[in-house]
Amino acid sequence: MIKIAPSILSSDRGRLSDEIKAMTDAGADWIHIDVIDGHFAPNITFGPWVVEVARKATNIPLDCHLMVSDPLTYAPLFAKAGADYVSVHLEAALHTHKILSSIIEAGAKPGLAINPNTSLALLDDTLEMLELIVLMGVNPGFSGQPFIPATTKKTKKLSDTLSKLGLAIPIEIDGGVTDKTAADLVAAGATVLVSGSHLFSSSNYAEAITNLRQSL
Ligand code: DX5
Ligand code: ZN
Repeated sequence: MIKIAPSILSSDRGRLSDEIKAMTDAGADWIHIDVIDGHFAPNITFGPWVVEVARKATNIPLDCHLMVSDPLTYAPLFAKAGADYVSVHLEAALHTHKILSSIIEAGAKPGLAINPNTSLALLDDTLEMLELIVLMGVNPGFSGQPFIPATTKKTKKLSDTLSKLGLAIPIEIDGGVTDKTAADLVAAGATVLVSGSHLFSSSNYAEAITNLRQSL
């Protein structure tokens, strides 16, 4: 089944706990937590304490997406705070093996995220270690940006590569996912859909999640 992961970057952050509970009750599969350091991408968002708050608010998996320039230092902190998945950006992961190993040692599942124009080929030698691959559908930083259409073709290319290698790594699409873009992404091989502004702008989260599922 396709997993739907609301991104709390679009939530009412003054009511973070209640927003996470509401999305859980509405049928979300995972909660997506965007960590941005103001250096790797132009926004400053959440520290590890937000993962602790989220962990108390819900039992569904917490999916941390680290858009930070120093993942070696920060990735284990998010794993220790209670994240189930910790994904770091390939563009910032100079010592990739060391970073992914540190996430595993800290008790989380490691993932790699890649920007819209970063080549999939750069993932080749890392695939065996990954439990999640995040393809960005927008440039990292903000919710509510328009979807970059080339993401769909890239999703298909990655999905074909994984099938050939017999690897069942979930492919997560992050950015610009709505009831208009999701179906093509899933047809191309996406299995996890992050959605921020589209879901949180709804006045009825359960209806928004159901509509997104029905659009597939
Ligand atoms: C962008 C973030 C996304 C963002 C998605 O840097 O990684 O998770 O919240 O927001 P929407 O779904 O509004 O594009
Ligand atoms: Zn994200």
